[in-house]
Amino acid sequence: MKLLPISPESLEQGGIILKNGGLVAFPTETVYGLGADAFNPQALAKIFEVKGRPHFDPLIIHIAAIKTLDKVADLSLLNEETKKKLFLLAENLWPGPLSIVLPKNEKIPGIATAGLQTAAIRFPDHEAAQKLIYLSTGAVAAPSANPFGSLSPTKAEHVQNGLGEKPDLILDGGPTRIGLESTVLDITGDVIKILRPGGTPKEAIEKLVGCTQLTINNEQLTVNNKQNALVSPGLLKSHYAPRTPLYVLSRDEIINKPISLNSNENQKIAYLFFDEAARNEWHNKQKPSETVIVKVLSQKGDSLEAASCLFEILHELDNFNLSNIYAQSAPNIGLGEAINDRLRRGSVKNY
Ligand code: TXA
Ligand code: MG
Repeated sequence: MKLLPISPESLEQGGIILKNGGLVAFPTETVYGLGADAFNPQALAKIFEVKGRPHFDPLIIHIAAIKTLDKVADLSLLNEETKKKLFLLAENLWPGPLSIVLPKNEKIPGIATAGLQTAAIRFPDHEAAQKLIYLSTGAVAAPSANPFGSLSPTKAEHVQNGLGEKPDLILDGGPTRIGLESTVLDITGDVIKILRPGGTPKEAIEKLVGCTQLTINNEQLTVNNKQNALVSPGLLKSHYAPRTPLYVLSRDEIINKPISLNSNENQKIAYLFFDEAARNEWHNKQKPSETVIVKVLSQKGDSLEAASCLFEILHELDNFNLSNIYAQSAPNIGLGEAINDRLRRGSVKNY
């Protein structure tokens, strides 16, 4: 495995590795992806092997221009109404952190989509990612570049720590801008469904195409027997989990949580606040000892800033061998919805 900074040469190398059926980890604006040629079933099989990812979990296919959509999707299967919505979304929100589920075409092997006839397609807003895709076959399937179920990587070193020698190349583009994964959207039905909240807030989608429905509930978590695939396995209840037990509390709960009940001299715990004001209230009320580790996602409580450092801080806390992490949930607007989704799925008591 090689780790190289982004340069014209390293991108060129990445393109060649992908065309030859290898795996390249690369930065996007959301998280690092583990890429393989989306048309090559053997290369795609390696992704599942390297990540320890179950075969029922379909991959996101990345393209580098709207006009190449039909290299991977069969748009003739969409009705006029849906096509209109697709282009409205694509023209306004691509490149960007939005994956749109569309009928796949016959060139995309079934292993990429876990046997589904649809594929989640995304045009990432990251120059190096776009160049890499352009230098490959033009379609790169890439899940987040982490072992299945664990925290997503927002830095090249997270990829290295999680996947070790397994990718053929890791392209280091520094920390990712958005810091959590794309929103996954299904526009094929009468109701537009958000299958996974993510980097594109629902407000931005609704402004263009009207109401959406968040389909995160227990019914959505069941296996669709006919196609032996989950509706969207990013909806698995436990996912994006740090190794340290994580508990999610509301603002009130975390501020009023007496520390003494949960820690002693040998137990190190961390408090992860959404904003500085909550941290201060808690501090004044609970008078914590020095041993408690305290982090704040965003001083001013800005959900964009908070999202961009969520996984990074969780990675960092995970290295301290703590007994517990208590995290404050975010206000449920903008990217707050995606932050809460990840916290909930990463928590021990996921609900
Ligand atoms: O931001 C991102 O989306 C990152 C970067 C690398 O692009 N990728 C990523 O991929 O998060 P992954 O594999 O970790 O998550 C893909 C999500 C899963 O929840 C999967 O179930 C859903 O997309 N998905 C993929 N294809 C689908 C399909 N045909 N129908 C419904 N959901 C699908
Ligand atoms: Mg993932």
